Order: sequence, then structure tokens, then C-alpha cells
Amino acid sequence: MTTLSADSLKRGKLRALRESRVRVWSSKMLPMLFSSPNPDTNPDTEAASEFSAEDAMLSSLQPKPFEDFAALYAETEQETHAVSRLLLEETLGLATPLPDVVRHIVASGGKRLRSRLLIASAKLLGCQSKKKVLQGTILLGGAIEAIHCASLLHDDVVDGSKMRRGLPAAHHVWGAQASVLVGDFLFARAFDLMCRQSEMKILTLLSQTALRLTQGEVRQLYSARALSMTPDESLDIVRDKTGALFRAATLSAALLARASTQKQRALALFGEQFGIGYQLTDDMLDYLGESRTLGKSRGDDLRDGKITYPLVLCLSRIGRKQRRRIEQLLVRSDCASGEIDEVASLMRETGCFDDCASVAKKALVAGAEALEGIGDARLRGILQHACLASLGRLS
Ligand code: FPP
Ligand code: MG
Repeated sequence: MTTLSADSLKRGKLRALRESRVRVWSSKMLPMLFSSPNPDTNPDTEAASEFSAEDAMLSSLQPKPFEDFAALYAETEQETHAVSRLLLEETLGLATPLPDVVRHIVASGGKRLRSRLLIASAKLLGCQSKKKVLQGTILLGGAIEAIHCASLLHDDVVDGSKMRRGLPAAHHVWGAQASVLVGDFLFARAFDLMCRQSEMKILTLLSQTALRLTQGEVRQLYSARALSMTPDESLDIVRDKTGALFRAATLSAALLARASTQKQRALALFGEQFGIGYQLTDDMLDYLGESRTLGKSRGDDLRDGKITYPLVLCLSRIGRKQRRRIEQLLVRSDCASGEIDEVASLMRETGCFDDCASVAKKALVAGAEALEGIGDARLRGILQHACLASLGRLS
């Protein structure tokens, strides 16, 4: 792998590199996505110097859409389009590089899974023909996607990730400062959007969800390299970091639809368990997947010193010498692919993937079952199928 050396990247060369990256990526796949980054923005020299030719090649491929979400996609396509438009439109005319960074994170092929679940859940609860409720789902879908995108911009800086959705992470193009500030902007936009509907319970839910998300991320950061983390503590982080926003999406739909308390509970459980199963699958894919398919670099969790659920299981099942080895790898940010394979093999041999998959499956089954008996069978089937099929991303 050819890595660009930091010395060779004098300021002018760096700018040329950034511009040529933008040219390569934009000409290959998303012509409407980029305008030139502002040459006056502060380049993230260190980050850019880590960028390699291999990364550039990987970035020419978008992550593969997951077929089992096809019915959910089809059911929610029109409204999801409106959600994306909402996020993009209102950046027009704003200060550089705000519109570019927002376009980069919003239009780069994310699944919009959370807003799709919100929209489909509202339909499940009988809102198909209620125009006002459907408009509310678009505003709230926008708010939830804005929170999600903001959290990804921040997360990629925190994790030092190079790739996101098959493209360079925003901080690699515009620098960490711009990335964090645009994350703040999107977070503020989320509150702006959610205030355009006047349901106090939903405002409270989304505010508390943002707190949980942040707490999950902080706990994850400070538990990094804490080899003593228990599987339950790790699952709590997953519940806060990912389960909470999925839960907020589906529960918002129930609140918008003024569903009964029983249905609110069912929808909340559905979203939360879907999110937990989804994140656990993601955590396994980080070791088992291919960067090309994932749209991000395989093995980043280990390189970031991040102890995810499958690794927590593994650490509790191996001897002192092997723990020592993992400890050494966790403090290095440059683990090679072979070293990621080495940890993945240990996980496989100690049954950690099987056990993590079965915890994920249990969550996904509980999520799907929570919807039993609710609403129209076709819509329910679509939501249950998407939930159960989440684990299939592993195959
Ligand atoms: C991705 O996890 C990150 C999250 C699910 C949440 C990140 C949350 C924050 C940064 C705090 C909240 C911020 C705001 C603005 C509300 P991952 O790193 O495991 O997944 P990845 O591999 O896709 O990066
Ligand atoms: Mg990350």
C-alpha cells in the first residue's frame, strides 16, 4: 500500500491533492455532489497524509445496497426523497463550506434507515391518508437524519475514520474544524425542524435521545482500551449509541399518529431492538466485511482502540498472552489487514461471532415480534422483514 508521506505534502501539493481527489470521486460517481472545497479552509494535513492510493481506489465504489431492505425502500421512497430535499435545500446560500459538507454527508448514499422506519411506522399506524401526519413524518424524518448525519460527522473526527459510505470522511476533505462545525449546524437544524411541529412529547423524546447518543459515544470513548468492560456494559453502549435513535424514529411515528400507549410501547421496542441488532451486525462486519462493500475501512474499530461487543466477548475467553497481544494492537492505529485477520480468527475460534450473532438475532426477533397484531399486514410484513433481514448483511 503506497502511503503519501507527510513531508511530500507541502501546502500547495496538498491543495492539489484535495482538488484531484474531488475530481476523481466526483467524475466517477456523484457528479452533483461536490463543488471544489474552499482552498482557504484549513487543510487537515495529518489526516490527508494518511490517505493512500488504495483508499482512493476503494472510494470509487459505493457501498452495496442491501437487497432485503428493498420493500422498505420502495414503500418509503417518495417521502424519503422529500426528507433528503429538506436537508439539502435549506443550506443554499449559506457560508462556504456548509452547503458542500452537508451535501457530502447527506447525498452520499446513506440508507436513511431511521427516517424510512419512521415513515413506514406512521403508515402502519394508519396515517397513509392523513396529510398533516405525513408532513410531520417528513419534518421529523429530516430532524432524525440531521441528528444522524451530525453524529456521523463528529464520530468520524472522534474515531479518526478515513472513509464513510465509500467516500473520504468529510474531515479528510474539509478538515476537522469544518466537519465539527457543520455537524453542529446539522444538529441545530434538527432542532429547528422538530420545532416546526408542535408535539411537546416528541420534542422531549428527541432531546433526550440526543443526550443518550452523546452519552453512549462518550462512554465508548472512555471505555476504549478498558479491557475490563463487561458484555452488559458494552450492550448498554450499543443501546444508547444506536438503539436510542432508531427507537426515537419509530416512537415518534406512534406519537404523531396518537397511537395507544400499548402501540407506543410496541413501536419503541421495535425501533430499539432493530437498532441494537443493526449495530451488533455492524460491529461484526467491522472484522468480517470487506471495505469495498462496507464503504468504510475494515478493522477501524480495533485501530481506534474501540472495544465493541464481539471483542468484549473475545477478551473474556482468551488467555493472558492473547489478551496482552490484543492490548498491544488496540493502542496502535496502524494495524495491518493481517493483524485484523488475526483478531478475527481468535474471535471465530472462541465462538464470539456466533454468540454476537445470536444476541443480535434475539434483538431483531424481539423487535419483529413487538409489531405482532399491529396495523396492516403488508406494511407490518415490510417492517418485520427489514428488521429480521438486518443480520443477513453478514452473508
Ligand atoms: C457511529 O458509530 C456513531 C454513532 C452511532 C453515534 C455517534 C454519536 C455522537 C458523535 C455524539 C452525538 C452527536 C450529536 C451531534 C448528537 P460507529 O463508530 O460504531 O460506527 P461507524 O463504523 O459507522 O463509524
Ligand atoms: Mg465510527
